[in-house]
Amino acid sequence: MSTKLLHVITWGCQMNVYDSARMGDALAPLGYVPAPKPEGADMIILNTCHIREKAAEKVFSELGRLRAYKEASGGRMILAVAGCVAQAEGAEILARAPYVDIVLGPQTYHRLPEMVARATRAAGAVIDTDFPPESKFDYLPEQATPQGISAFLTIQEGCDKFCSFCVVPYTRGAESSRPARAVLAEARRLVAAGAREITLLGQNVNAWRGEAPDGGFWGLARLVRELAEIQGLLRLRYTTSHPRDMDASLVAAHKDVSILMPYLHLPVQSGSDRILRLMNRKHTASDYLRIVTRLREARPDLALSSDFIVGHPGETDGDFAATLELVRHVGYAQAYSFKYSPRPGTPAASMKQVPETEKDRRLQELQALLREQQSQFNRSCVGESMSVLFTGPGRHPGQIVGRSPFLQAVHISGPEGLIGTEAPVKITASLPNSLAATPITQELACT
Ligand code: SAH
Ligand code: SF4
Ligand code: F3S
Repeated sequence: MSTKLLHVITWGCQMNVYDSARMGDALAPLGYVPAPKPEGADMIILNTCHIREKAAEKVFSELGRLRAYKEASGGRMILAVAGCVAQAEGAEILARAPYVDIVLGPQTYHRLPEMVARATRAAGAVIDTDFPPESKFDYLPEQATPQGISAFLTIQEGCDKFCSFCVVPYTRGAESSRPARAVLAEARRLVAAGAREITLLGQNVNAWRGEAPDGGFWGLARLVRELAEIQGLLRLRYTTSHPRDMDASLVAAHKDVSILMPYLHLPVQSGSDRILRLMNRKHTASDYLRIVTRLREARPDLALSSDFIVGHPGETDGDFAATLELVRHVGYAQAYSFKYSPRPGTPAASMKQVPETEKDRRLQELQALLREQQSQFNRSCVGESMSVLFTGPGRHPGQIVGRSPFLQAVHISGPEGLIGTEAPVKITASLPNSLAATPITQELACT
């Protein structure tokens, strides 16, 4: 079997990053190996995201660029579009970009070998955007390419929550959880291949409720405790959580499981109960603050991150002020904020919209506050000792980089031999996007 080059372009969330790696695994038995560049590739997959505005336009302009590689190959190269735009707008993609060979959704990529065979044989394009009854995870081959020191592991897919603004329930399908045995086996394989940190992924990762080895069901807290037993695994994280699924047992795991890192991405979207209701979030601002208090009681050094939307239909100045107040109350180490973007087919898209200029103004104000909180958090780390998991060489000679427990990028001058290990450091400076540190050999690390 001849070797073929596969180039994958990934947009969107970490679940897409994981899916891209697994698409590579699915194609490995056909002789495909990863290629860092599109030039000379035998197949290109564009793995897309549909979450915010102009998603489809971005796809069509990228496809226009990729078409040149197909032409350069005399038409032999296979061009595939995967991910959430493919799921939502598959037919439109084939109509507007007839040079695309394969359109596939996030739940069908285990069938890629079959699709490639059909695309090579047949004259027309192949489209597979089903929500199949079988789980792709049961049909994918084991990981072919190791993910490195910090690895992603999808344990949960889909969303049943239907927030008014969001396309995910339509593009990813219903909530489903992988069985505990499959997750534990995949985690062990990742660690055997060199992973020292695993981030468990799901659109609603803390809604995971997986079949247990004894036939019952476990929640995420139990899964985390079992994963923590894996020899050689130094760090665990999970993302993204929904406040409604943050139960007492998961809060307790933050207290008891030392390898569960003290950093949590817990999106709240808005601080106004009226807007949270319009968003169909099914939690209030005070529900969220109560969860934050409980988490901080369990793990006092916990750093928090969140997502915010400004300018959701119906949002007034007063509602926006409530969001700023919530941010001041919580104090975030990091956060993402977005202007509301109407998504076709979602309930909020047909509500009365907030003017663009108003959204711009609110976004700027919120981002200034969040930036200030982030730099305050980073400054508060200067002089502290903490452990860093080193993941690779830095930009300058003699430098290596890694992540703090709070997910900050940290660089030190140190030997490459430290890569793949966790070592205590003292933070010496806070820079705009990273921390500088020196290694400590004697002192005890604080985390
Ligand atoms: N499942 C996660 C988030 C998935 S989408 C959760 O429930 O929190 C990631 C983020 O994109 C969301 O948290 C939200 O802040 C943002 N987002 C989703 N739809 C959006 C839209 N229509 N306009 C602007 N931001 C949006
Ligand atoms: Fe989207 Fe809401 Fe589901 Fe998150 S919980 S994926 S924001 S619908
Ligand atoms: Fe985007 Fe789909 Fe992820 S819409 S954010 S790639 S689930």
